[in-house]
Amino acid sequence: MANFGTDASVIDPYDKKGHKNHYIKWLRDQVLLKLTGQSGGSVNILDFGCGSGNISKLLAARGHQVIGIDISLKLLNLAAAAGRSGNPGFACYDGSNLPILPDSIDIVTTYVVLGHITDNDVLQVMMSELYRSLKPGGFILAIEQTRKSSKLTDNGYKRQRRLTEYQALFSNAGFASLDSFSIRSGHMPLLYMVQLGLLPESVFPLLAKIEQHYCMLSKQLGDYIDTVFLFGKSGASGTEQ
Ligand SMILES: C[S@@+](CC[C@H](N)C(=O)[O-])C[C@H]1O[C@@H](n2cnc3c(N)ncnc32)[C@H](O)[C@@H]1O
Repeated sequence: MANFGTDASVIDPYDKKGHKNHYIKWLRDQVLLKLTGQSGGSVNILDFGCGSGNISKLLAARGHQVIGIDISLKLLNLAAAAGRSGNPGFACYDGSNLPILPDSIDIVTTYVVLGHITDNDVLQVMMSELYRSLKPGGFILAIEQTRKSSKLTDNGYKRQRRLTEYQALFSNAGFASLDSFSIRSGHMPLLYMVQLGLLPESVFPLLAKIEQHYCMLSKQLGDYIDTVFLFGKSGASGTEQ
């Protein structure tokens, strides 16, 4: 996938013109910037499954100390190619031992990564590792594709889980639920106009509002939804330590 470039490799490789990926990235970044910016100051962020480094770079540019971790060395090479300033830093993950000290991270961000871990038992262990890396008072911001019934997609490489399935996995790992909401559905009809380049970035805020309403219908129709999960590690605020 790394051969497709920084966006298509981690979103939709078939979006030849890049307009759809630009929109999806815009939506994702709005949520990430809002929810990671609430502490007001600079915090330690672990971007789990950072891929080509889009999110890591966005958050480092906002003054946060970011470490991006991914299982794919080729995607990490793409991430590191643009600069070696040390922030964000990037590290390769072997899939089982998270190279992060316990209680050291304020916020874990992860965008459409957990679905790539298709086995619930393996994911459960990984979530416990992420929990361990967080400071008490820290939180995880995960965006994942969810749907009415759990389904393997992408030739078996990805699992779209039920919302309640994710919630159970997070709480079994020790997390407390703070919030969850939908931001995008897989196939809102206006997305095809975006893909063709017919809707400029100036209308994205309006599209984001329409998406929220469309998600409800989409759930009924059985399409997948991009769901934001916010789960915390209880204790004193990590950012104050
Ligand atoms: C859809 S991409 C998202 C990349 C990035 N989060 C972004 O938004 O640009 C999914 C990423 O998950 C990574 N991934 C898949 N399985 C993983 C695992 N077990 N541990 C860490 N990363 C993994 C892939 O290498 C890929 O970079």
